[in-house]
Amino acid sequence: MKDRALVSEQEIRRLVDLFYDKVRADPDLGPIFERVIQDEWGPHLQKMYDFWSSVMLATGRYRGQPVVIHKRIEGLEIELFDRWLALFGESCAESLDAETAGPFWRKAVRIAESLKLALFYRPDQPWPLGTA
Ligand code: HEM
Repeated sequence: MKDRALVSEQEIRRLVDLFYDKVRADPDLGPIFERVIQDEWGPHLQKMYDFWSSVMLATGRYRGQPVVIHKRIEGLEIELFDRWLALFGESCAESLDAETAGPFWRKAVRIAESLKLALFYRPDQPWPLGTA
């Protein structure tokens, strides 16, 4: 066991930077992000460091409304979440030690699931979508 916080701010930055390198190079996800973020990558990355710092270290640095923000992203289809998670998982495995990567990854899976529910769940349709 580490005798400090599970993850450091430096590790969060390394993970987020690596993840976004992969996202920007991805043929499906890349164009969605480029269209929305354009030349504001600096502020976006800073926001994502703050988000993950709030999630993993409870620093409270991120204050935002991810559901509202994602609702207005053009081209954000539910199928893309698997790709997002695959790239995030690779990034965790490549940039963090196993002890840190596991909890980080599981947190991302849980948040992705709640985001998917908030964006796509319809009470009159089976969940997960496409299962009946
Ligand atoms: C296919 C899946 C996803 C796509 C295509 C996507 C795309 C985007 C884009 C384009 C933005 C920038 C929005 C803007 O600045 O207006 C954004 C922001 C953000 N995303 Fe995602 N996202 C996805 C999944 C996720 C997941 C699973 C998480 C969390 C685990 C997440 C967390 C965030 C956060 C915290 C922001 C910042 C929101 C804010 O401005 O306060 N996203 N996302």
